[in-house]
Amino acid sequence: MTTPVIPDATESLVWEVLPAAADVTHAAAAVIEHSAREALALRGNFRIVLAGGRTPIDVYRLLPAIETEWTKWEIFFGDERCLPATDPERNSRMVFDAWLAGVPVPPHRIHVIPVELGPDSAATRYAELIARYTPFDLVVLGVGEDGHTASLFPGLALNEAGWCLAVFDAPKPPATRVSLGAGALRATRDVLVIAVGASKQSAIHDWRAGRVLPITRVTAGLQGRVLVDAAAMGECAVSR
Ligand code: 6PG
Repeated sequence: MTTPVIPDATESLVWEVLPAAADVTHAAAAVIEHSAREALALRGNFRIVLAGGRTPIDVYRLLPAIETEWTKWEIFFGDERCLPATDPERNSRMVFDAWLAGVPVPPHRIHVIPVELGPDSAATRYAELIARYTPFDLVVLGVGEDGHTASLFPGLALNEAGWCLAVFDAPKPPATRVSLGAGALRATRDVLVIAVGASKQSAIHDWRAGRVLPITRVTAGLQGRVLVDAAAMGECAVSR
């Protein structure tokens, strides 16, 4: 049985292969700074959806140094792990510790996914919230070794096209999460995907081949940039 592919799935994205993870970190911070500057100049606010996981943490650590109008930023999360607010593995905790605790974004403009309500109620509440704020200006995404993004995992019967959904059997712990669906993640003017390390090679290769993975479905046809280091790119030739 042939593996379904999405033709030209990554054609709309600009790919940059950088020598090392640190180069990806600095380039990603520069993309976010530029996106914010453009949105603030054009629309007077900047709506960004943040990736969870480890890869973006060093990027977030660079952001307090940028010159910007923090009071006009509006922060959203692509997904959240159903963990206590103080758990160091909770995405919002990681982002606060790395960045938001050090900048004056007004608390009412930082929209943490309310997983304390329970996954289903949190997904419903967050879907109602984000419907008032799309299109986003920038959605930042990571990529898992299996091609997942946010908490949309391959093979899970997910309402991926929806706005926000509860995930109960994620293969990446913790199993219970809340994630924006592809519909919400695609409701953006721009997307930034970052991936580093050899463990991501297979996912990057399959994605570039158009294999139907969550990262493929979420980003196909979107305008944006993919920043990867040489280790994640492996031997895939970058034609653009
Ligand atoms: C999460 C993230 C997830 C992450 C990828 C990559 O909650 O884990 O939202 O989608 O972006 O799994 O994770 P790393 O950056 O840690 O490799």
